[in-house]
Amino acid sequence: MDTSSTTSIPLAERIEELLCTEGPLPIVAAGDPVLRTVAEPYRGQLDDALLHRFVAALRETMLAAPGVGLAAPQVGVPLSIAVVEDRARGPRETLEARSRTPLAFRVLVNPSYEPEGETKSAFFEGCLSVPGWQAVVARHALIRLRAQDEQGQVIDELFTGWPARIVQHETDHLNGTLYLDVARLRSLSTNEAVAEYWSQPTPELAAATLGFELT
Ligand code: NI
Repeated sequence: MDTSSTTSIPLAERIEELLCTEGPLPIVAAGDPVLRTVAEPYRGQLDDALLHRFVAALRETMLAAPGVGLAAPQVGVPLSIAVVEDRARGPRETLEARSRTPLAFRVLVNPSYEPEGETKSAFFEGCLSVPGWQAVVARHALIRLRAQDEQGQVIDELFTGWPARIVQHETDHLNGTLYLDVARLRSLSTNEAVAEYWSQPTPELAAATLGFELT
């Protein structure tokens, strides 16, 4: 049943309208209902050319932010599509401690994941829809992702380390979940506080000082 005024406009029309403006798309912030909606599965609602233009705009918006992932609801579109890409820049010690390896640009259509094994790893992360803040999230260290790519090809792949974190964060968005829902809330810190106190490769000191569990 269609009860909201926003969903009564066909998605394709709304996306055409979004793409009328040049440059990165406006990012929707926490509090907007679209971020709490389960995204509609993608079943060819857009023609190939429009899907391609929309994905290109998502990527441009993600890179400009800058961020390492962006889900369609974050630009106000409740469709199960996300983009990810991480060039993994930063001090080598930090990259190694976080298993942060480069993640090539990917389009995830209708993604879902399940954990492989019990291991979790806890690190600070942030979200473009919650600007200015970071918090520690314990996430599965190894996941199996099932999705399709932009061409409809099946993706069935294992992800580990930081790429697994990114995939979980973006897939959660498509289910109406924000990282704060699964974060250690006592770790909540402004970007400035993270830079001043919690820039260590791992969050042990933050856990001991702010009073939260890592596992
Ligand atoms: Ni996010």
